[in-house]
Amino acid sequence: MSDSQRTFVLRLLVSAVVGGAALILMQVSFPPPDGVDVGRIFFWTAMTLALGAIPVRLPGGMVAFTTTAPLIAAVFDSALPNPFALCWIALLGTIELRDIRHQLPFLGTLYNRADFVLSTFAAFLAVRLTEGAVRPGDPLGAIAQIAIAGVAFSFVNLLLGVSIASLRTRTPFGRIWALGVGNVAIGVVALVPLGWLMSEIGQKVGLWAAFLFLVPLYLARFSFSKYAETRELFLGTIQALSQAIDAKDGFTRGHADRVSRIAGAIARELGLPEKQIDDIELAGLLHDIGKIGVEDRVLMKPSRLEPEEAELMRRHPIYGASILEPSAALRPLVPIVLHHHENFDGSGYPEGLRGDEIPIGSRIMIVADAYEAMTSDRIYRKAIGHERAMEQLNKYKGVQFDPRIVRALQEVVRKRGPAAFDVSDLPPINYETLAEVRRRLAREPVVRDAHAG
Ligand SMILES: [Fe+2]
Repeated sequence: MSDSQRTFVLRLLVSAVVGGAALILMQVSFPPPDGVDVGRIFFWTAMTLALGAIPVRLPGGMVAFTTTAPLIAAVFDSALPNPFALCWIALLGTIELRDIRHQLPFLGTLYNRADFVLSTFAAFLAVRLTEGAVRPGDPLGAIAQIAIAGVAFSFVNLLLGVSIASLRTRTPFGRIWALGVGNVAIGVVALVPLGWLMSEIGQKVGLWAAFLFLVPLYLARFSFSKYAETRELFLGTIQALSQAIDAKDGFTRGHADRVSRIAGAIARELGLPEKQIDDIELAGLLHDIGKIGVEDRVLMKPSRLEPEEAELMRRHPIYGASILEPSAALRPLVPIVLHHHENFDGSGYPEGLRGDEIPIGSRIMIVADAYEAMTSDRIYRKAIGHERAMEQLNKYKGVQFDPRIVRALQEVVRKRGPAAFDVSDLPPINYETLAEVRRRLAREPVVRDAHAG
C-alpha cells in the first residue's frame, strides 16, 4: 500500500469509527432514560478509570488494558439504565493519562474512546439478542451468554485496535497480532468472566465487594507487563550479542541487523507465517554466532585462507547451532543457522543439502547475507551497489541461491527501493573510555522503570 493510500484508509477508518460511536451515543442519550442512578454509573466509571490509568505497551505497538472487566461488568449490571449508562462509562472511564497529558494526537484519543464505546455496545447487543434464549437459573445458558458477550467485545475491540496500530506503524496486521495480542489474548479473554462475576457480586453483595476485584485485576495487568518486559529483554540481549559478533568479525556495524531485516522482508514477501518470519529475523541477527568458536588468526586473517584454515572457518554453522541448542527460546533458530551456508545445488556445507531439503529460513539467509555483503562498504572494499549485486545473485541462482528467493528479494527491493536496508536501526556503539562512561552516567543516571507502559 502506498503512503497516500495508507493515509486515505487511515482517515476513512478513523471517521467511520468515531462517527459510528457518536451516532450510538446520541441514539442512547436522547431522550435520557428515567431514574438514572448517577452513583452507580460513577462507580463503574471510576473502576474503569483506575484500571485504564496503567496501560501496558505490547511488542508490535498495541496497548493492552484490563478495563475489559469493569466494562463487561457494566454490561451485565441490571441495575444500570443500559445501554445509556455503559456507553458513557466506556466513553469517560477509558480516558487515560496519555490523553490528559496530550501524549496522543487528538484524533487518536477520539478513536480510542470510540473503539471502547463500539466494543462495549457490541457486547450489550450480544447480551440483548441472546436474552430470550437463556432461562433464569440455567448455568450453561449463562456461561454461553458470557462467552458471546466476551467474543463480541474482544472482537470489535481488538479488530479496531490492531487495525489502527497496523496502519499507523506500517506493520502488517498479522505481525501485531502474532507478537502482541496473540500472547496476551488468553489473559484478555479471562477478564470477561471476571467482569461478569464482578457485576454479580456488585449486585448481590454490594458495590464495595466489586471494588475488591481491583486486586486480581492489577495482578492480571502485572502479568501482561511481565510478558512485554521479557520480550524487550530478550530482543535487547540478542541485539547486543549480534553486535558483539559483528565487532569480532570485523564487519561494519549493523551487518547482522541488516541481514536480519532483509531476510525478514523476503520471508514476508514469500507469505510465510508471522511466527516463522520472527524466527528468521532472529536467526538473521545470530546467523554467524558460531564465528565466536573460530580462532582469531583464521577469522581475522587479511589474506586468502589456506585450505585447512578454510576448513576451520566452515565449521562456524555447526558451532553456531551448538551454541543456540541449549536455549529453549533459541532452539527454533538452530536449523536455520546450521544450514545458512548450504548451496541450492548441494555444493555447500556443512551437510551438502540441496534444493527443498535446505530449510527455507537458511535459503533466505544465504541470499540476504550475500546481498548485504555486496551492497555495504567494508574496510577492504567498497560496495558494488544494488544493480551489480542483483546481477551476481541472478548469475548464481539455481547454483548457490534458490531462484524463488532471489526473485522475492528483487520484488522487495522493487517495492521498497534499494535504500530501504541501507541504514541499520541499531543505535551506534561509541567506544568510550572508562572516564567518559563515568562522566556520562553521572550526567544521565540510568533510570529503570519497573513497569512497561
Ligand atoms: Fe556465515
